[in-house]
Amino acid sequence: MNTGLRDRVAIVAGSSQGLGRATAFALAAEGAHLALCARNREALEQVAGEIRERFGVRVHHAPLDVHDTAALEAFVENTGRIFDRIDICVTNAGGPPAKPFLATTDQEWDDAFVLNLRSAAAFARAVIPYMQRRQWGRIIMISSITVRQPQPQLVLSNAVRAGVMGLVRSLATEFGRDGILVNNVAPGYTATDRLIELAAHGAAASGRTEQQVEQGWIEQIPLGRLGRPEELADAIVWLGSERASFVTGQTILVDGGMYKGL
Ligand SMILES: NC(=O)c1ccc[n+]([C@@H]2O[C@H](COP(=O)([O-])OP(=O)(O)OC[C@H]3O[C@@H](n4cnc5c(N)ncnc54)[C@H](OP(=O)(O)O)[C@@H]3O)[C@@H](O)[C@H]2O)c1
Repeated sequence: MNTGLRDRVAIVAGSSQGLGRATAFALAAEGAHLALCARNREALEQVAGEIRERFGVRVHHAPLDVHDTAALEAFVENTGRIFDRIDICVTNAGGPPAKPFLATTDQEWDDAFVLNLRSAAAFARAVIPYMQRRQWGRIIMISSITVRQPQPQLVLSNAVRAGVMGLVRSLATEFGRDGILVNNVAPGYTATDRLIELAAHGAAASGRTEQQVEQGWIEQIPLGRLGRPEELADAIVWLGSERASFVTGQTILVDGGMYKGL
């Protein structure tokens, strides 16, 4: 399959580890140049170095906390200056804390909103003018299976990420005439550090072991296993490619069949 990604320029947020890191590798494997960000400079440097060495693409990277919209906009502007184009933007960051509803605070609600919804809107606002210039663009937002199937103890994610679907649908409609396609990928339980964190929380909350918590998730997944980060990344490569040219405003679940609705 020719993805048409060679020499495209892609921003991948939250790319120092986990799903973002796997996405960066997958896009680079198709020949895309990258702009990577996350808070941890050393981890980013390592990812950028490995990608350059393996794939020979250009990689810009800079530490960024997506809570800081001015810094986010400066990162996008630098990317545009360095590469003279931005074709693809993958929005992503960490997940909000797992906890029962009555234990959540206003501060945590505000943080979840900024981390998982406002930052995605800020990236979109910053990259769309670059995409409009070339009348071509792909914005792919990483959210969660919680957008379709709310998960226990994840009320912050369940509530806030639903807004990502509204954002995706709105942008797909408003910018379709500019050739900009906007989609949401919703991972199910995928083996990353975030999942280790959730298993530890689930174990502490239920008195089970982390292995038992993980087994509980696996039992709900028809494919009988956790996802691999590369599997989510492959869906993003497709959505970012020329091969997904008539797909916009959608939520694509990559969850091994865990969501059972129609
Ligand atoms: N793994 C799963 O099973 C799963 C399932 C459903 C949804 N998700 C969601 O998908 C997203 C990615 O998941 P993951 O498993 O890859 O998580 P992860 O392993 O925790 O990685 C999160 C990435 O985002 C970066 N990040 C976190 N906070 C940030 C901030 N304030 N500003 C900038 N970058 C930030 C982290 O790097 P730094 O720490 O260096 O900033 C890291 O690169 C999360 O929102 C997660 O909740 C994951």
